[in-house]
Amino acid sequence: MKALGCLWLALMVTPVVAETRMTIDVAHPGPVINRHIYGQFMEHLGRGIYEGVWVGKQSAIANVDGYRSDVVKALQELHVPVLRWPGGCFADEYHWQDGIGPPAQRKKTVNTTWGGVIDDNAFGTHEFMAFAELIGADVYINGNLGTGSAAEMAQWLEYLTSNSQSTLANLRRQNGRDQPWKVQYFAIGNEAWGCGGNMTPAYYTDLYKHYASFLKTPADNQPELIASGGHTALTEWTDYLVQHVGKDVRLNGIGHHYYTLPSGSWDTNKGPALGFDETAWLATLKQTRRIEGFIRDNVAILDRYDKTQKVGFYVDEWGTWYDTATGDNPGFLFQQNSLRDAVVTAVNFNIFHAYAERMRMANIAQMANVLQAMILTDKDKMLLTPTYHVFRMYVPFQDATRLPFTLEGNPTIGSSGDTMPKLSVTTARGKDGKLYVAVANLDPRNSETLVIGSSIALQRATGQLLTHEKMDAHNTFERPQTVAPTRFETVGANGKVTLQVPAKAVLVVALE
Ligand code: AHR
Repeated sequence: MKALGCLWLALMVTPVVAETRMTIDVAHPGPVINRHIYGQFMEHLGRGIYEGVWVGKQSAIANVDGYRSDVVKALQELHVPVLRWPGGCFADEYHWQDGIGPPAQRKKTVNTTWGGVIDDNAFGTHEFMAFAELIGADVYINGNLGTGSAAEMAQWLEYLTSNSQSTLANLRRQNGRDQPWKVQYFAIGNEAWGCGGNMTPAYYTDLYKHYASFLKTPADNQPELIASGGHTALTEWTDYLVQHVGKDVRLNGIGHHYYTLPSGSWDTNKGPALGFDETAWLATLKQTRRIEGFIRDNVAILDRYDKTQKVGFYVDEWGTWYDTATGDNPGFLFQQNSLRDAVVTAVNFNIFHAYAERMRMANIAQMANVLQAMILTDKDKMLLTPTYHVFRMYVPFQDATRLPFTLEGNPTIGSSGDTMPKLSVTTARGKDGKLYVAVANLDPRNSETLVIGSSIALQRATGQLLTHEKMDAHNTFERPQTVAPTRFETVGANGKVTLQVPAKAVLVVALE
């Protein structure tokens, strides 16, 4: 009896060694994860372009032809696959002719959407296209449907792509660009349900068809045409567009938007970027995970009406949106970026991979100094955010082939009735032939053991780990390396590798 009592006590105090088991099916590869899922977005908004990217050739800040040298280098290392510009809401008030020709003669316009500041249009079509070339990105231009015309939109594309002797093509040459540019993506309007004109899906779809009919470019330079779609849980835009655009009008993608707000509400405070508690950490991750349902529902509609998979589902704005820091122009949408944003990023990537058949592009909002940024600047100072580091860690997933896997274990976290899985995982065969696994641990307190097996014997895992003891750990201009990836390596046993994934962490490894 006494012995039994001791055994019972031992069972009570011995911690249960929990582990999650992942089995990768290397024999049945899935679709290619389009590298454009790792796209960026830059808008004429706050210090996103002016200061964040463009300082001008005469600036005391080190620059390459007007672009900040530090930012160009950082972005080149990120392998930015595609870059969206000039908005956002700004796109529907942008007149491209204001941003060409000798800079001193360009119009000065009021940015009525973002902060009411004057835009001297120093950054226009030539500056954007040259910047994309410099960082090696494809371009995604968002046309002005709200306050432009079909003629203005068609003429912009002619200016960009025509190799003829037309007046517009020669104007481009006169402005310094001889050869036409390649335009990979072009959108007709932005957020037509809101800032883009407060339209109904039916009215917008008619306008889309009208405008798209006149966007004629050379046969070898036809951008994919993107319609402005819904946001958050809305599906009616996808539904209406895919059923009514018709076969005579090109529609290559529908752009959906979803922002992660810790409070989940636009009508109350969204929540601070820093100094939050565990409840806010969990709420933010719960909000970000909602995107999976929005993608699933919209993709189901596309699958129903577009059997040949012509139309892609593009999440062309996503990321966290917090309360603006006090003191800053609220129209500038500047926010700090912490370890929480890093975990949000990984969770979204893992979801995007799961829908790679239809999800062919995503663009985080935004590249520098705005919302969930990769880069923050303060005059000549620059830092890389935790979000930047996750984008960099995931580079091997660009154009990799997704692999199926099963997961056993994976405990839930959160309070009862409001839980979510602790780990978010993805795996793919990289273009280099290596097997990659990425895992985010959403638990702010506890680590998790992940045992990975496959039909091939695994001997080691090497990669990079991003974590910190504080949930809101972030980089500052004084301490830019507070949150930075560290090398991770572990040796396998019996054909399996075991990863100890710390609490609140993102880990990306190559398996051999
Ligand atoms: O990214 C900031 C803004 O968010 C964009 O301009 C708009 O499209 C969205 O509402």
